[in-house]
Formats: sequence, structure tokens, C-alpha cells
Amino acid sequence: MATTPDTRRFRLSDQYQALKSRLHQHMIRLLEDGDVRLEDWSRTKASDFIRNQVRAYVRDQRLPVNQSEADALAEDTLNELVGFGPIQALVDDDEVDDIVVNGPDHIFTERHGRLGMEPLRFNDDAHIIRVIQRILAPLGRRVDESTPMVDARLPDGSRVNAIIPPIALDGPCVSIRKFREQPLTAEDLIRYGTADAETLAFLEAEVGKRRNILVIGGTGSGKTTFLNVISQWIAADERIITIEDAAELRLRHEHVVRLETRPPNLEGERQVTARDLVRNALRMRPDRIIVGEVRGDEVLDMLQAMNTGHDGSMTTLHANGPGDAVHRLQLLAGFAGFNGDERTLLHQISSALDLIVHVSRLGSGERRLMSVQRVGEVAGDRLPMEALFTHPDAEREGGRS
Ligand SMILES: Nc1ncnc2c1ncn2[C@@H]1O[C@H](COP(=O)(O)OP(=O)(O)OP(=O)(O)O)[C@@H](O)[C@H]1O
Ligand SMILES: [Mg+2]
Repeated sequence: MATTPDTRRFRLSDQYQALKSRLHQHMIRLLEDGDVRLEDWSRTKASDFIRNQVRAYVRDQRLPVNQSEADALAEDTLNELVGFGPIQALVDDDEVDDIVVNGPDHIFTERHGRLGMEPLRFNDDAHIIRVIQRILAPLGRRVDESTPMVDARLPDGSRVNAIIPPIALDGPCVSIRKFREQPLTAEDLIRYGTADAETLAFLEAEVGKRRNILVIGGTGSGKTTFLNVISQWIAADERIITIEDAAELRLRHEHVVRLETRPPNLEGERQVTARDLVRNALRMRPDRIIVGEVRGDEVLDMLQAMNTGHDGSMTTLHANGPGDAVHRLQLLAGFAGFNGDERTLLHQISSALDLIVHVSRLGSGERRLMSVQRVGEVAGDRLPMEALFTHPDAEREGGRS
């Protein structure tokens, strides 16, 4: 593909965007006139067809573009017609983990843990929305003014979130967390410097002892990945029920029941919440319950499950440190209508949780296991913790998550 610096610069220019729109219109007319449905063709056939048509158009219209620029136009036109527009190349790029679009001119990716801006752009807000609709259409979902936010999972397991104006003030935003063919393993965590072998061996033993574990960290800090790694240590014959908003965990166990929440439909009905699923899971004779992330009412049922014979359950929580995690659990439980005083709640939390594992994304993009805390007994209105492991970065990075 054409990626010389000149072509890259040309691709960002207004002139190129205008050419691209013109070509796009031209191709749409051509396809309609010829009754051609590119979706039904193989990618190679569609790509050859478009390349030829673009070359012919460039020649006939005497457009001032060279060969590699014409190739770029052909590629982009194909992606507009049958793919996800400017971000299709990023979706296809195995080195890209995350794709973030913040309005037409800001497209970022995370590659090898580092976030960087991509030399790509959309024409305008409407262009981004068209691509969002194309991503969502096969899932039977769409965004519009009445549903300005969507969270969805693509057939390949990638996670997509989109939010559009007027809710998003600076233009439509899309975040795609790509599904890794091969999920990270404990060995990967060691190789990437996330955790050391000794600490992981300790955690493996704790999982074997059926400890209730809470993995905490900021957005994208690697909580789900860590949860997936430690879940692999659950004995092969245990019956596990996983509850997630979008199924990300990949357990190799035989007795796994995977449950996924369901957002309400357009009429606001048929929602199935994490709380519904935790309650249902308790009736399914699980050995362990794994909740992908607690962020709502389900916190109460999860705490209760952990306190009543479902030892070895695990979940993640968005929090910046162990103290913050306890605070957030209290808040969530309060919102969920916990009826009892603060002491009782703290007791509930203390007896539910055995370990808190804190992961963090450093400024450099690397992920680190910051600390492993053993949750102690309530003393007064405090919940003491014993740090079993603390990474030196935990002090240096302070409150970072
Ligand atoms: N230890 C790690 N080393 C390198 N990359 C990692 C590591 N852990 C996770 N990642 C990558 O970071 C991204 C975010 O990981 P993950 O989904 O586990 O984070 P999260 O904290 O659960 O995010 P969210 O807040 O969105 O739920 C993924 O692309 C993942 O592949
Ligand atoms: Mg997660």
C-alpha cells in the first residue's frame, strides 16, 4: 500500500478529501447503474474492480495524482464502500490494540502500549456517523439522537463504544478495543514487565485456595486481562459462571457458563442487568462466579455471593488504588440501596474480599502490577490492609492509576 511520507501528507489534505468525496459519489453512481453489490463480492474482486475504476476515473478526469496517490484513493474508496472508512486499515493492522476517534481530525491508536495520533482523518461528523452505523448495522444496532451512546461487541470479539453529538460536544467519538487472537498469558505479563514470576506464583496459589479477588485499576490499565490470566488458574473441573457486559474473558475450562447483560431495546424494555445475572447465577450451582466488572447494583449481590459460600469469586473495579476501591464499593453499594449502616457495609466488604490486586498503566504505556493487598478485619471505621507486594513504581507514580 502507498505509505510514503508524501502520500501520507497528501492523504490529509483538503484537496485529497475533496477528491475522495468526488470519487465516492462517482463510484456509488456507477455501482447503482450497474446494479453491482460489492458486499457480495470477495475482497480481492471488489478491490480489483475499484482500483481499475479509480484509475480510469483519474485518467478520464485528468486528475493531478500520481500512481501511488491513485492507489491510496482506490484503497480508501474501497474502505468507504465496503469497510469502516479511514479506520479500516487500523482495524486490519495486527499491531493496533485500541482505536480511538475523537471527532473528524483526531484518530489515535495504541500500539505496543503506546498511544499515538494517526495521519488519518474523516471528512466531517456525518462521515464518522456513517462509519459507526456501518459498524453497528450487522449487530442490529444504531446510533441516533434518541440513542446517542452505544456499547457493542463485534462478531470478532472486539468491543466498540460510540457516542455522538449533542452528548459528545466535539463531534462523534468511537473507541474500539480490538480482540486479541491470543489473549495475554502469565508468561506475557512477566515478559512485558507487568509482574514478576514470584508474585504470579503467589497469586496462583491464592486462586487455588479459593480467595475472593478484586482486580482494580484505571481505564485500560489491564484489569480484564489480569482477571483473565488469574482465572486460568482455577482448577479445570470447577464450574464457573462469568457475567460480563461484553464477553471478553476467555476461559479454557470445560464447565464455563458465559452470561452477557443486555441493554434495553428502543422501547426501553427487555434489559437484563448484571444484577439479574448474578442473582440467576447463584441458582446455577456455580463453584465460582466471575463478574467482568462491578459498576452498579450488582455490587450488593456480588458481595453477598462472596460472603455466602461462593469463595473464589473474582471481579474487577475501576479504582485508583486499594483505598479508593473500598470507597467506590461503599458508594456503589449506597447507590444500590444497601440498607444498613456504614460499619455493617464495611464489615460486609471486609469479609467478602480476601485480596485486592492493583494494576496500572504507566505514563510510558506499560502495564504494571502495583500492589497486592490482603484485606484485613475492620478496625473502628477503617479497613486495614496488608501489602503483600508493592512495586517500587507504586510509590514513584503516586496516585496514578
Ligand atoms: N500487561 C499488559 N501489557 C501490555 N498490554 C496490556 C497488558 N494488559 C492489558 N494490555 C492491553 O491493554 C488494553 C486494555 O486491557 P484491558 O481490557 O485488560 O484493560 P481494562 O483495565 O480492563 O480496560 P477497561 O477499563 O476498558 O475495562 C488491551 O488492548 C490489552 O491487550
Ligand atoms: Mg475491562
